[in-house]
Amino acid sequence: MAFETIIVEIEDHVALVKLNRPDALNALNQQLLGELMQALEEADANDKVRCILLTGSEKAFAAGADIKEMSSMSFVDVNASNLFAAFGDGIQRIRKPVIAAVSGYALGGGCELAMACDFIIASDTAKFGQPEINLGVIAGMGGSQRLTRAVGKSKSMDMNLTGRFMDAEEAERAGLVSRVVPAKKMMEEAMGAALKIVEKSLITARTAKEAVNRSFESTLTEGLLFERRVFHALFATEDQKEGMAAFMEKRQAQFRDK
Ligand code: CAA
Repeated sequence: MAFETIIVEIEDHVALVKLNRPDALNALNQQLLGELMQALEEADANDKVRCILLTGSEKAFAAGADIKEMSSMSFVDVNASNLFAAFGDGIQRIRKPVIAAVSGYALGGGCELAMACDFIIASDTAKFGQPEINLGVIAGMGGSQRLTRAVGKSKSMDMNLTGRFMDAEEAERAGLVSRVVPAKKMMEEAMGAALKIVEKSLITARTAKEAVNRSFESTLTEGLLFERRVFHALFATEDQKEGMAAFMEKRQAQFRDK
């Protein structure tokens, strides 16, 4: 099925997924979230893809959930459709690394979408925020939870209660984004990061992602135990033998995902 609200290109083992509702600043309507989930699942299942890069336009990564679509919904509608839940649960099941490349507005659901990715590379024009309070609602796709884990209680409360936006510099200082680059260089930098990941063993990359994500769901002792178990398990792979042999032979490792 051809997508109408996103564009997907696969090149050099990277699935580049671009949100494409320019007239609505990539507002996340149900069609877009459905298409995006389908694209992410297809990329996760596609042997040619080893990393996923999600981006928007220069002006907006995404300006949030589609307010026009939501405005007339009742409690019963929202409750029955379980609004945003299917997407929120689905993106957590993607096992390949997912990078968000954010330029311009990442607000409400847009900020939450970026935070649901594995890490965020931001352009110096990026603006993050959870302004849902101005609409008489609160964050509905993780903004009260993931933002708090990323930047701590005080700043998260500030963002969620005042609705103010955080610029890229503040977002980097607060630990929300991993790197900030000039707008013109952002896609090059994000693609560079994706290409670095593509070179790794996919088994190892998936395991690293799983281990980091485990830290959000467990005590330190449980998390360390999980890490120790999967660290040991990687010694059962050919890629561990290859990686360590390549180091000793002073050559580039040739991983085979085995
Ligand atoms: N939903 C639907 N349409 C949106 C939208 C959104 N979230 N954000 C922007 N648009 C539309 C505007 O309505 C406008 O369309 P029209 O020309 O047809 O009116 C078009 O995109 C361009 O927007 P603006 O004219 O407003 O552009 P601007 O540069 O003046 O302002 C902005 C940009 C500050 C991002 C402003 O558009 C804005 O505040 N948007 C809403 C941000 C927001 O509140 N997001 C949270 C949504 S709720 C949510 O996300 C719930 C959740 O947690 C899941």
